[in-house]
Amino acid sequence: MTNFEVRQYDAAGRLGELTVPRAGVTVETPTILPVVNPHVQTVAPATLASEFGAEILITNSYILHGSDDLREPVLEQGLHDLLGFDGAIMTDSGSFQLAEYGDIDVTTEEILEFQHEIGSDIGTPVDIPTPPDVDRERATEELKTTQERLEHAATVDTGEMLVSAPVQGATYPDLRERAAADAVSTGLDVFPLGAVVPLMNEYRYADLADVVAACKRGLGEVGPVHLFGAGHPMMFAMAAALGCDLFDSAAYALYARDDRYLTVQGTELLDELSYFPCHCPVCTDHTPAELDAMDADQREELLARHNLHVTYGEIRTVKQAIRSGNLMELVDSRARGHPAMLDGFRALLDHAEQLERTDPVSKDAFFYTSHESARRPEVRRHQDRLERLPVEGDEVLLTEGSSSAQYDESWGVLPPFGPYPRELADTYPLTAEVPDRTDRAAYEAAATGVRRLVELHPDVSFTLVHDDWPATALDRVPERVRLRDLHARD
Ligand code: GUN
Ligand code: ZN
Repeated sequence: MTNFEVRQYDAAGRLGELTVPRAGVTVETPTILPVVNPHVQTVAPATLASEFGAEILITNSYILHGSDDLREPVLEQGLHDLLGFDGAIMTDSGSFQLAEYGDIDVTTEEILEFQHEIGSDIGTPVDIPTPPDVDRERATEELKTTQERLEHAATVDTGEMLVSAPVQGATYPDLRERAAADAVSTGLDVFPLGAVVPLMNEYRYADLADVVAACKRGLGEVGPVHLFGAGHPMMFAMAAALGCDLFDSAAYALYARDDRYLTVQGTELLDELSYFPCHCPVCTDHTPAELDAMDADQREELLARHNLHVTYGEIRTVKQAIRSGNLMELVDSRARGHPAMLDGFRALLDHAEQLERTDPVSKDAFFYTSHESARRPEVRRHQDRLERLPVEGDEVLLTEGSSSAQYDESWGVLPPFGPYPRELADTYPLTAEVPDRTDRAAYEAAATGVRRLVELHPDVSFTLVHDDWPATALDRVPERVRLRDLHARD
């Protein structure tokens, strides 16, 4: 039985439902699991539920296990009671501490049993978070240990508790892909992508996109996929479009402690803000100067609440974008917040073929909003499908203008898609809104489409009537195609 159902796709992004049997709840994804530090609760878990609608959170069982003051209470009361939260609670294992300090004093079996005993709803084995860029030998070696632990975890009796199977493999796409396939074969329930925090801390969003895409190739369409330690709202849209369903982070609290203010475009320092660019209750009720004048604890709490509002707001924005079929437009818009995000978006588009597999055939509208739009999955799909479309005439006109009776057959041409049979003009994605001042990337993509069609029909004679295409686009059109400029006089 699967505990995860996809309701709707956009690119590889999905609206899904994760059933957490032990908690007796179903969680709508994508979502964020706020990290709750059992010792320091910047925002109480009950408030996370009531003010922010949190259905699930994550805490660290290793801290509870090793804590003199909390170990007994949590064993006695249970985790939900201790934290005051009756939604789903996921527990991490101490792998993060392992990565930070090199050693921890529990085994996978001990920590899973402890997680089960305290009432965790989703447990985590002790995976080894191999950092980016280590040599291949180390990544392979550590992966072997992680996989052995996952296989062992699958044999531990944990009742109804779901168990996650973290995917490691550093920055080696082939190792990530294999690790993901091996994780699936354990039969465990949730698939976190591990050791991506260093990539995010260094703004290596292009490398992150490649890592996620590689993991997804190994995972296939199983889920849910959790991006471990990802909590900055600026990257939710991109990660969701690549197929991540769960995020978790302490960023809302850690950033608040340092007077850092999250936005969907990046991070601002409170010091440098004269106005709050946000509509949340914190930002509508206060000015930056007022927060600045408060005592540190009060300011930290308000900043954490703002950070959570932005975080949950972006999750809702992403969900609505999947529902409306404009997730790629959202990713495009978020990519403008920071050059590193733009790199991430461009790397994501390198995987357009992979994203195309789950992208719906029809959506409301395709908005061409940047030259990156020319590389979207829909463009690739249209051009791949040219081979299914019959060409009947011997003399075929391809034109951005209107058809002409002189030809056996006349197709339309629309940048960035290229040629299309006129009867498809009212179907997605050819209903695209493309700016009149089209860019070179759109013409070049259209020319690639022309080339594909022409190559598919070596015996047909083609004439292309184009609207002032740049030389870089015309260079892509095979030489045997007759060219005419739309505005040239006959
Ligand atoms: N938290 C952030 N990264 C990781 C990871 O790779 N493994 C585990 N278990 N927790 C994490
Ligand atoms: Zn705000």
